[in-house]
Amino acid sequence: MEAPVDVAERSASHSLAVHTTTVLPADTNAYGNIFGGHLVALIDKTASITASRHAHRNVVTASIDRVDFRSPVRLGDIVTVTARLSYVGRSSMEIGVEVMAENRLTGQSVGACSALLTFVAIDEAGRPAAVPRLTLTTDDERARFEAGRLRAATRHEG
Ligand SMILES: CC(C)(COP(=O)(O)OP(=O)(O)OC[C@H]1O[C@@H](n2cnc3c(N)ncnc32)[C@H](O)[C@@H]1OP(=O)(O)O)[C@@H](O)C(=O)NCCC(=O)NCCS
Repeated sequence: MEAPVDVAERSASHSLAVHTTTVLPADTNAYGNIFGGHLVALIDKTASITASRHAHRNVVTASIDRVDFRSPVRLGDIVTVTARLSYVGRSSMEIGVEVMAENRLTGQSVGACSALLTFVAIDEAGRPAAVPRLTLTTDDERARFEAGRLRAATRHEG
């Protein structure tokens, strides 16, 4: 088991966060679909848990690069939000989020939404603070990291 603080490196599995909930009437519009903003709040909250687990520091959302709503999420659906670290810089952490919507009557599950967010760890004064490196074990983890590194390098261009 990894030590909770002061390690040089952590795996993506250490910080993986999964949130499961159901869509209630207050979360939906007049057509019975979930509000996009409600889903974004769930995504932000789940991703912030991943960032906190990796950094063991306070973290802030620095940017939400994109949110793709692919399929409507309906009243009563079971929603599962999974947040996984893809890239770590000095103080920034890029997190990919996948949202699955499951029809509770049929059990059918669809990929409803995906998002990419960057969090920054901060110290007591609110300044960016260094975080552990990300352990890269599999080819998939190395590919995700490299894609994240390229996005981070181009994010501030222009
Ligand atoms: C995010 C924040 C801490 C960055 O502070 P800063 O002094 O501008 O940071 P720097 O320019 O020194 O960059 C620090 C790191 O943040 C990253 N970063 C800064 N702005 C970013 C952005 N908009 N998107 C993604 N990454 C960003 C940098 O790439 C750098 O990463 P690295 O350390 O891994 O190389 C600061 O802008 C902040 O506090 N913003 C408000 C956050 C907030 O309140 N969020 C809630 C949303 S309402």
